Amino acid sequence: MSEITVAASRPYKIHLGSGLFPELGGRLSALRRGCGVVIVSGPKVWRLYGESVERALISSGFSVLHFLHCDGEDAKTIGVYEDLMNFLCDHRIERSDLLLALGGGVTGDLCGFAAATYLRGVDYVQLPTTLLAMVDSSVGGKTALNLPGGKNQLGAFYQPLAVFADTDTLSTLPREQLLSGLGEVVKYALLKDVALFAALEQGQNPCHSAIIERCVELKKGIVQRDELDRGERQLLNLGHSFGHAVEKCSDYSIPHGIAVAIGMAMIARGANRQGLFSAGDLSRLLRLLERLGLPTDCEYDRAALLAAVEADKKRSGENITLILPRSIGHCERRSVPFAALEDYLN
Ligand code: NAD
Ligand code: GLY
Repeated sequence: MSEITVAASRPYKIHLGSGLFPELGGRLSALRRGCGVVIVSGPKVWRLYGESVERALISSGFSVLHFLHCDGEDAKTIGVYEDLMNFLCDHRIERSDLLLALGGGVTGDLCGFAAATYLRGVDYVQLPTTLLAMVDSSVGGKTALNLPGGKNQLGAFYQPLAVFADTDTLSTLPREQLLSGLGEVVKYALLKDVALFAALEQGQNPCHSAIIERCVELKKGIVQRDELDRGERQLLNLGHSFGHAVEKCSDYSIPHGIAVAIGMAMIARGANRQGLFSAGDLSRLLRLLERLGLPTDCEYDRAALLAAVEADKKRSGENITLILPRSIGHCERRSVPFAALEDYLN
């Protein structure tokens, strides 16, 4: 088991390893004793892990309730959020109580936003059960809901009290969800870590806790230097401008990290055409994505993708901030005129 401290505005520990959930009661008692706990989760994850988490907490003296949201992006809506708020209010949840996000990034984003806003802020703990949530969404305190006008348009920066990532939960993850997490793992490697990239090329198991830990360390560093996403943290949007467009064009049937992999391949080809990313590095990236089983292109019409990018929240005025790969392990932010975007996409 490893412990990583994130020295954010409010510092917290990320506990990562096998067999963590059965020990959760004792571990949580070290942070907060005998309070009320509301586990927020989705139906699939609840069926798999809800009972064991609940049992572990009750045996350590916590009084436990659970709130189940629907599966998928539909859970990150104002309607579900309102139901959750009313549930907390009806059960007289107090500021000294805790919310627990048991699930993937959807659960973490919903529960985190509820925690940030209920009674002007109650503590929450992330219990990520997808690879994507372990390496990315449970770290750094971004919480969000979607609006009809766009994904993650409503949100808050609100750091959790702690993160407990039980890597045993990855054994039940469907292949598509595993691939989605792999997209984010490759993103960290391309962004910041040549050695991680090489380890993945050499066939290191991307679900190995050493790889997950490395990704968490990389994200932790970025969050510590730029918690509020004013500069360096925007690098984490590598592959996201086109990735969000792919997600949107697929009506969210393509999982987030898989869309990010496609977006990364697209922007890397564009950077290569602009003379910014070498052919050798481009072919290493495409080969790695393909070897891991990730797609490197999509069937959507360029015009539809451009229209979706145009609506992207990262556009400011007539410019859009792109994250461009320059070499394996090194990327840069560049503001380009929207009119020039086509040069990167064609
Ligand atoms: P998800 O939360 O929708 O989970 C994917 C699917 O896997 C769901 O059907 C879920 O029920 C199932 N599942 C989860 N854990 C399982 C397990 N252990 N075994 C079997 N099934 C399991 O998807 P995700 O990829 O984890 O998260 C995507 C969301 O995260 C998006 O909404 C995205 O915007 C958000 N996100 C947030 C941040 C952030 O910093 N807050 C970062 C990246 C992504
Ligand atoms: N996943 C993007 C971020 O945390 O900033």
